Amino acid sequence: MKLKINITFFLLLICATTLSSQSRTASDTILDMINNRLDLGVKQEIHMSREVMMQQGKFPLTIDKNNNLLFCDTTSWTCGFFPGTLWYLYGYSNNKQVKQYAQLFSNRLEGMQNATNTHDIGFIVYCGLGEGYRLTKDADYRAKIEKAAQSLCTRFNPIIGCIKSWDRGKGVYPVIIDNMMNLELLFEASKLTGNPKFREIAISHANVTMKNHFRKDGSCYHVVFYNSDNGTVVARKTRQGYADESSWARGQAWALYGYTMCYRETKKLAYLRQAQKVAAFILTHPRLPKDKIPYWDFDDPNIPNTYRDASAGAVICSALIELSQYVPQAVGRKYLNVAKTQLLTLSSSSYFARIGTNGNFLIKHNVGSMPDNLEIDVPLPYADYYYIEALLRYRKLILGETLF
Ligand code: GLY
Repeated sequence: MKLKINITFFLLLICATTLSSQSRTASDTILDMINNRLDLGVKQEIHMSREVMMQQGKFPLTIDKNNNLLFCDTTSWTCGFFPGTLWYLYGYSNNKQVKQYAQLFSNRLEGMQNATNTHDIGFIVYCGLGEGYRLTKDADYRAKIEKAAQSLCTRFNPIIGCIKSWDRGKGVYPVIIDNMMNLELLFEASKLTGNPKFREIAISHANVTMKNHFRKDGSCYHVVFYNSDNGTVVARKTRQGYADESSWARGQAWALYGYTMCYRETKKLAYLRQAQKVAAFILTHPRLPKDKIPYWDFDDPNIPNTYRDASAGAVICSALIELSQYVPQAVGRKYLNVAKTQLLTLSSSSYFARIGTNGNFLIKHNVGSMPDNLEIDVPLPYADYYYIEALLRYRKLILGETLF
């Protein structure tokens, strides 16, 4: 009898140990993978910093056909992503060298807080300095965030209720879906200053965009042109997609991220519903590959013989991780499963570059603009930025930390 009990106990113990080591292994494995990619990211971005440091006023843009690093200055909408990535990696690693580089490249954004000729100021200043401010509480960064928000608001037309994306001459008022991303700067500026104006403009822009940019199936147009005298819609077009009626992958990613972020900031259910509609469009799309990294446009007739856009995959991944926290558990699990697949895909050797290759960028296979024959199947700084952001978000969930 005693022997039988002992054997039963022993078997149960083995069983429990196996089960617990199995469940530990599952989350440990993904946590190990995330930590490993973040550690490699620190190394790769230090290599990148050393190269870019020598180029006065420059930021990494992409690579050419011979793998030479190409640079941009603050006239590129992408210039803030490199300092922003360094800030994220400093937050993770506490590495002093990474902090110094983050400060150095953030300083190169000087003056952009005053720019009123671009709506990309949210990408530039907020993605560039926002995390830096959270980590350091540097008063200069705070002042720049506030000033950048004021500059962005000069582009708001109350008749239309939107911020103008591009300056295309008198009477032409284009608004692109990408502009949803710049609203985060406005929400942050309202919180920092207590001035509700920034937030009101963000909400107006999000509401008008929700009304005019989306199709019934949850997908969105890239550009909506408005009549600036009466606010009516003049035309719906694309600039970076395959066709006016197609679904440009990064545009869908901006929409998903934008409305998820707007829900975080306002708790308005309409934004949550909009984010979920976009998520449903993307996740149930018959041309979304099994590894969940979209082709550059869901409607390119050459699919599957065309390019993936890993940057869209990284933005969608980061957004889904956040969205998973705002919905019932079963739905959230579905979003997180897709995000996990995306993280694993992006972290695999198919997308994640070996250290010292890929011009010291992290992620391969992104598309800037197909119609312009520009930056096709190359590394891009925003892919790295949103990939690192997604890794950090997923890591927080594993560690039981809140995202915001
Ligand atoms: N205009 C921003 C983008 O290419 O997504």
